[in-house]
Amino acid sequence: MELVEKITSLRRRLVPWRRDGEQIALVPTMGNLHAGHLALVREARRTADRALVSIFVNPLQFGPGEDFGSYPRTLDRDRKLLEAEGTDLLFAPQVKAVYPHGQEGQTRVEVPGLSDILCGASRPGHFAGVATVVCKLLNMAQPDVAIFGEKDFQQLLVIQRMVKDLCLPVRVMGLPTVREPDGLAMSSRNGYLTPDERARAPALYRALCGARDRLRAGLAADEVERKGGEELVDGGLRPDYFDVRRASDLQPVTTQDEDLVVLTAAYLGKARLIDNLRVSLTGEASRTEAAT
Ligand code: PAJ
Repeated sequence: MELVEKITSLRRRLVPWRRDGEQIALVPTMGNLHAGHLALVREARRTADRALVSIFVNPLQFGPGEDFGSYPRTLDRDRKLLEAEGTDLLFAPQVKAVYPHGQEGQTRVEVPGLSDILCGASRPGHFAGVATVVCKLLNMAQPDVAIFGEKDFQQLLVIQRMVKDLCLPVRVMGLPTVREPDGLAMSSRNGYLTPDERARAPALYRALCGARDRLRAGLAADEVERKGGEELVDGGLRPDYFDVRRASDLQPVTTQDEDLVVLTAAYLGKARLIDNLRVSLTGEASRTEAAT
C-alpha cells in the first residue's frame, strides 16, 4: 500500500484507476484507527474496485481549548492496519497542503440548521470545519463512493446535506456503529479514559437502550430525554445533551414520526463521548444511505 502526502501525487495515482473504469471508494478518517474505522475500509473494498483511505487530523473542526494538539497520531500503526485490510492507497496530507492560505483564509462550506444543534450547539464552527474538509477531500479524490459511520450521526447528515446541496457527484454511505463487547461505541477518544472511567463509560449505551425501550413502550419523548439524562448522571457522566429527534433531519419529534434517533453527548473525565441509537416505531430501522 502506497502512502501519498501531496494532492498532486494523489491525483496522479488515481488517473490509471479512473482510465480503467475502476470504482473508487474513499474513507475519510483522522487516524488512530480502530475496528470501527476498519469496518468502513472493509465495506470500501466490498463496494468498489479501489479503497482509498485518508488520515488527516483536521484543525478546522477543533474549537479553541479542544484536543487538536493532543489528538492521538499513530500513523505507523495505522499504516500497518490499513495494509492488512488490503487498502489500495493511503492519503495523509500535511496541514499546509490542505490549508495553503491558513485556516482563517480558507473558503468554507456551511450547512445551516443541521450544524447549529446538538453537538453543533456545544462546538460552534465544528460542522463547518467537517463539511469544509470533507468537501475538499471529495474534490481532491473525486471518489464514486464515500463511506462514513453512523457513530457520528449528525456528521453523516451534515455531509449528506452538503453533497446534495452542492450537487457533488458521489454516493454517501453510512455504516452501523461498531461497539466494544460491553456496548461502548469504539472511538479514538476512548483512549483518554482512565480504567475507572472506562468501566463507567458503557452507561452511555445503556441509557440509549433504555430510551429505545421507553419510546417503544409509548413514553413521550421529553420524559424519555429526562430519564436518559438522569441515568447518565447516576452512571457518573456529565451529560451535554440527551435528545430524541427525527432521524431524517434531527428536528424535534412529533407524534406522527416513526423513524427516530436518540442522540447523546456526555463528559467523562477528559473525554467528551458521543453516541446514538436509531429507533423505529414501526419495525426495523432503515439504513442511512443517500445517493445523489
Ligand atoms: P474519525 O473520528 O477518525 O472517524 C472517521 C470515520 O469513522 C467517520 O465516518 C466515523 O463516523 C467513523 N467511525 C468512528 N467510530 C466508529 C465506530 N465505532 N463504528 C463505525 N464507524 C465509526 O469523523 C471523523 O474522523 C472526521 O470528522 C472526518 C469525517 C474524517 C473529517 O475530518
